[in-house]
Amino acid sequence: MQIIETVAALRSALKHQTNTALVPTMGNLHAGHLHLVALAKQQAACVVVSIFVNPLQFGANEDLANYPRSLEADCEKLAAAGVDIVFAPSVIEMYPQFDGDQLNQTMTITAPDIANELCGASRPGHFSGVATVVAKLFNIVMPQLAVFGKKDFQQLHIIRELVKQFNLPITIIAGDTVRESNGLAMSSRNGFLTAAQKNTAAQLHQELNAIKLQIQHGNTDFNALTMDASERLQATGWLVDYISVRNSISLAPAASQDQTIVILAAAKLGNTRLIDNVDLLR
Ligand code: PAJ
Repeated sequence: MQIIETVAALRSALKHQTNTALVPTMGNLHAGHLHLVALAKQQAACVVVSIFVNPLQFGANEDLANYPRSLEADCEKLAAAGVDIVFAPSVIEMYPQFDGDQLNQTMTITAPDIANELCGASRPGHFSGVATVVAKLFNIVMPQLAVFGKKDFQQLHIIRELVKQFNLPITIIAGDTVRESNGLAMSSRNGFLTAAQKNTAAQLHQELNAIKLQIQHGNTDFNALTMDASERLQATGWLVDYISVRNSISLAPAASQDQTIVILAAAKLGNTRLIDNVDLLR
């Protein structure tokens, strides 16, 4: 496995590849990321995993400085998983115009309005930052396919829009969410939780599943379902950002007759913000 830090070296390593899959990550890898790598391995001759904590997608009061970084351990996991190339650029390599603490010379992609809802409502600019770095990674690696997790459902939606609206010749593959045995969606941020919080954290997935069950039984009072779940979560110490029932294809608020549904949530336990979602077909 090669570990490459510059765009030029990566381009030269990939010169003759015609069947490459890219798995973009911010590192601190867990079984969820490795599941995406396994999907990539199944479909492509050459698998590139990028590890880059992208400053453009963090708000001023978010955890950029504290975001867990573990490049050495990550590379061991990726080598064992049969990855061909790890691309781990510096901030300057990705954003040469970065002047030390401002990114305001950076040309960015404006994400569509849906980027201002759900997670975007409390994280202004976040999805513009995601779309910009992913577009750059696509241009650098020029993969035939790229794998993203359903765990970040809104992100997956925006990446699909990026590919569609910018006519990128890249197939997007979605990987299912990998969970702890108690149902908690694996996340790099779970490491911030105490043992007690990890137990409580499983409740988020339980509440989403409870709503899913109700909808499958014909209950379409989405407002009441999400408000009740929200109240139960607040009662056990969560600070709920949102719980929302959406059409899983358009991400618009679900209508009662919709066949493709996703229930999404974001909530904080202490200082740790967790997200999760479950989808269903009716
Ligand atoms: P990161 O949070 O490191 O996630 C990298 C990829 O792993 C994303 O596609 C995410 O959806 C997926 N993932 C995370 N947890 C997962 C789980 N439990 N099961 C399955 N897949 C999971 O998402 C990002 O990084 C960044 O925004 C990025 C796309 C790399 C752009 O900077």
